[in-house]
Amino acid sequence: MKITDLPERCDTLWFNANLLTLDEAGGGLGVIRDGFIACTNGKISHVGASAAMPMHLCAGESVNCGGRWIAPGLIDCHTHLVYAGSREDEFEMRLEGVSYEEIARAGGGIASTMQATSSVSEAQLLAASLPRLDALLAEGITTVEIKSGYGTSLDAELRQLRAARQMGRIRSVRVVTTFLAAHAVPSNQDKQAHIDDVCARRIPEVAGSRLADAVDAYCDAIGFSSRQVSQVFEAARQHNLPVKVHAEQLSHQGGAEMAARFGALSADHLEHLDEAGIKAMAASGTVAVLLPGAFYFTRETVLPPVEALRAHGVPIALATDCNPGTSPLTSPLLAMNMGATLFRLTVAECIAGFTREAARALGLQERTGRLRTGLDCDLSIWDISSPGELVYRMGMNPLHARVVRGSHLEN
Ligand code: NIG
Ligand code: FE
Repeated sequence: MKITDLPERCDTLWFNANLLTLDEAGGGLGVIRDGFIACTNGKISHVGASAAMPMHLCAGESVNCGGRWIAPGLIDCHTHLVYAGSREDEFEMRLEGVSYEEIARAGGGIASTMQATSSVSEAQLLAASLPRLDALLAEGITTVEIKSGYGTSLDAELRQLRAARQMGRIRSVRVVTTFLAAHAVPSNQDKQAHIDDVCARRIPEVAGSRLADAVDAYCDAIGFSSRQVSQVFEAARQHNLPVKVHAEQLSHQGGAEMAARFGALSADHLEHLDEAGIKAMAASGTVAVLLPGAFYFTRETVLPPVEALRAHGVPIALATDCNPGTSPLTSPLLAMNMGATLFRLTVAECIAGFTREAARALGLQERTGRLRTGLDCDLSIWDISSPGELVYRMGMNPLHARVVRGSHLEN
């Protein structure tokens, strides 16, 4: 017997499947018809066409996928899903013609969710937020980023981050947490005083608690200036925390360009992004995270500069931005449809935006987001007849199963 004839063991084998590997030079979908995936110790140990399957592969468990499609597990790389309360009253005001900005300036908006979120316990926060996470999981999410930013105090912020981490323990999903250090000022405070407190006290404490994987800030006229956000990023850098930014959503403030100079993982929203910002993002590899749910829900009319982002080779991700004010959206599939319909992204860009590029926006591109040997075995298995169906439908969920680090979970 030759060495190559010895049986090779794997824990689970998925076969008779079409694959979207998202692991193709040039950034395509990487389609493999009639393929297989083998998993060992939670990692992908083989992936390819059935014809290339090792002769002596011996699986603990074999799953016949019946011709279904397997994509990487979906990744929602921008959410604010841990919060309490609701904002349908403001939605109704906006329907009457009051703007998001006017509501915020009158003390509503983010500030009202801060009040609601800060007045409940961690257990209540968890109970209020779990249905939103479950809705994402039901549509194939295997990694989710969750931001704080609705705490009126540092304690309330830490409660939000703890609730987010806890979700990753009680559900089969990888949770990545972000300390949204500068979102809105607690009512009685001055903006600069808040920034000084964030830098001197909050970031060091959050870093010490290890409850956050990154730091974010809201750079806008109703948020914080680019200079204030750069102060926050300096403090984050001192504690080795990667940064990301909400930028150029309602107006152009130069936040994306500044964040790119800090090597930000991502700059998100970007409807008002200019050429200088695009060039800076291209140079630093900062991912453009587009949020079509917020664009749709706030009835924004200025489109993000998709053509220019493509032309400069800026990676593009998509996310739900699940939050009570601008995007009460818990459907990655609908976000993909909106990315295509509203922003004219291609099917491949929409799917990459919720897999490979979303992983990059979280700094996890060597962990998840593609079907590739050595990466975590995070999969989404779909009852579809072609990849375009994932983006094309509105309100139909063809998810058959999720696989999180090798554990197969039927929907
Ligand atoms: O991503 N722009 C700031 N932050 C959120 C909105 C939060 C809210 O309105 O509660 C966003 O759109
Ligand atoms: Fe957001």
